[in-house]
Amino acid sequence: MQDINIKNINEYLGKEVRISGWVYNFRSSGKIMFLQIRDGSGFVQAVLEKSSVDERVWNEAEDITLETSLRVYGLVKKHPKKDEYEIEVKDIEIVSISQEYPIGKKEHGPDFLLDHRHLWVRSRRQWAILRIRAGIYRLIEEFLEKNGFTRFDSPIFTPSACEGTTTLFGVDYFDLGQAFLSQSGQLYLEAGIYSLGRVYDFGPVFRAEKSKTRRHLTEFWMMDAEAAFMTHEENIKIQEDLVYYIVSNILDNYTYELSLLERDIKPLEEVKPPFIRMTHKEAVDELRKLGSDIDYMDDLGGDDETILTKQYSKPIFIEKYPKDVKAFYMKEDPEDKRYVLCDDLLAPEGYGEIIGGSQREDDYNKLLERIREHDLPEEDFRWYLDLRKYGSVPHSGFGIGLERVVAWICGLKHVRETIPFPRMIYRKRP
Ligand code: 4AD
Ligand code: MG
Repeated sequence: MQDINIKNINEYLGKEVRISGWVYNFRSSGKIMFLQIRDGSGFVQAVLEKSSVDERVWNEAEDITLETSLRVYGLVKKHPKKDEYEIEVKDIEIVSISQEYPIGKKEHGPDFLLDHRHLWVRSRRQWAILRIRAGIYRLIEEFLEKNGFTRFDSPIFTPSACEGTTTLFGVDYFDLGQAFLSQSGQLYLEAGIYSLGRVYDFGPVFRAEKSKTRRHLTEFWMMDAEAAFMTHEENIKIQEDLVYYIVSNILDNYTYELSLLERDIKPLEEVKPPFIRMTHKEAVDELRKLGSDIDYMDDLGGDDETILTKQYSKPIFIEKYPKDVKAFYMKEDPEDKRYVLCDDLLAPEGYGEIIGGSQREDDYNKLLERIREHDLPEEDFRWYLDLRKYGSVPHSGFGIGLERVVAWICGLKHVRETIPFPRMIYRKRP
């Protein structure tokens, strides 16, 4: 008797195996029982016939409830109608009978499901999303390692803001006053490039976002990448290659998960370089034609991103935003000082921003001026300014939001389903 994972069941046709897992659905006619079993690696149907098992086995099976944990012993067979395998049950061993399971077959509202997130993660859809999330995480790391980036972990407790002071979470930090939870590791990565050349971090970051939108979490996972000597152009190229790497690999290796999510994969198949590229000014021109009242010096709002990305099947780079709507560290566009050398990458089908990147200001005096303009505490940025004193080099980087990418690739309406335990302005439980 071999212990197996359901995902490998095709290797055991005609053999007797043991599967350890949970019953996620079942029905019985009194003579035959169909148990839907999941074991974390996949899903399979186990068929129990009263006439062909011991009375003891049938009697035990009659106690099964939704989410009962058990071990199933049986023969691996081809499903008579579908292109799947199933188990002809010989014996079962109940591990724990589940109490009445709160998540049933009826439709539940999002609040109910989020309150039961600790159980909701067991559902097939959530399983598929969490698998794809883990896959995207791994692919991002794989891509970076292949492209010469070294992991450089940035701190979570920080003395100052990276992405504006309005979305900082403060914490009491012993006798040193307030610390803030990191909004992005970027500034620290900029120190890392002077040691390792190309670096990245990947971890939770925090934003006290007051916005209750489908795109915002207060705790989310970001990968920041930073490279010495990298220009704005090269920065865009590497982002394009990364996104193509993620999408093409997910399409190749996660077909089952995408099918459980009923994701239409046609639009994803169109995600191939070159992506669409436009300047902020061109984006505003187009948006105004589409009926938006956005001004030429305005940031794009969530609705603008939705309208614009619905026009295209490929991701869109929007580059060179007005300086005043972007962060203090971005380098001026040498062709027009009202703009900066930055890019946002917007995912198609209405999804919007998934990446924010830029070339960084590498001149000491210009950076100091920007820090002052933004009213940032100079003392806390001394170390960051130091980087412009000792062998400063042109450099660029970007940050990709994992949950935004998962939502897009899985075709989800809201980022709250893309992370095991979402944190939002109105939710910190379970
Ligand atoms: O555009 P952002 O704010 O860029 C930065 O933080 C830079 N320091 C990154 C860098 O250059 N290293 O954030 C980067 C990405 C966004 O494009 C978006 O995908 C995601 O992080 N993001 C959020 N995801 C979920 N909830 C939120 N509240 C998010 N805010 C940003
Ligand atoms: Mg951004």
